[in-house]
Amino acid sequence: MIECKDLKKIYVSGDVETEALKGVTFSIAKGEFVAIIGPSGSGKSTLMHILGALDTPTSGTYFLDGREVSKLDDDQLSDLRREKIGFVFQAFNLLPRTTVLRNVMLPLLYSETSQQEREERARQCLKYAGMEESKFYNLSNQLSGGQMQRVAIARSLINNPAIIFADEPTGNLDTKTSHVVMEAFQELHKKGHTIILITHEPEIAEFAQRVITIRDGVIESDLRK
Ligand SMILES: Nc1ncnc2c1ncn2[C@@H]1O[C@H](COP(=O)(O)OP(=O)(O)O)[C@@H](O)[C@H]1O
Ligand SMILES: [Mg+2]
Repeated sequence: MIECKDLKKIYVSGDVETEALKGVTFSIAKGEFVAIIGPSGSGKSTLMHILGALDTPTSGTYFLDGREVSKLDDDQLSDLRREKIGFVFQAFNLLPRTTVLRNVMLPLLYSETSQQEREERARQCLKYAGMEESKFYNLSNQLSGGQMQRVAIARSLINNPAIIFADEPTGNLDTKTSHVVMEAFQELHKKGHTIILITHEPEIAEFAQRVITIRDGVIESDLRK
């Protein structure tokens, strides 16, 4: 599913160069639930942006589902993201004053689906993510943090992605709610989804099957349970 070889990323701002990734090599098979863990500044978000086709590496190769992502232009990257990838972020990134259902339908707005089909798929994804039906017409800003993250998970599923990326999805949640959200990811994993979770919390990484530790832009360990 994912194969990267010697990925390097150098950010240049003014005359300062930061080598955020210093040659990262690993692969992830379909259906795996992998946590990428490391301290702040270790390169986790940089790696996720590359794996999620939001950015390209400075050097190295990255294959996603047989396609060489490191060679794609911006239009091809955005097509690939839409077709293959679901994202869940720490900040939920929901539209406020907009219903739960509409938030989940949003990624389909410019696709060739009818309003009825969009709504039907959004309902299915919300149920799949464990959202109570009585909340479908609530405004997103009226929900608890845990409910918001379920809506964000439902939205990430709307295009039936091959892979779900979650960058610090529990970063804004208390411990109990974090565990509930992690259990939702475990459910998705059991149903066969490939999940890549980024976190700086060892306790959250424990929910995954495999833990890749990154430090100063290099992989320090890669352990399977
Ligand atoms: N857009 C950017 N421009 C310049 N430096 C950046 C940029 N993004 C990240 N960095 C630097 O790259 C390193 C890795 O950052 P990041 O991938 O965000 O780490 P993490 O997500 O593990 O906290 C840090 O030193 C950070 O300051
Ligand atoms: Mg980060």
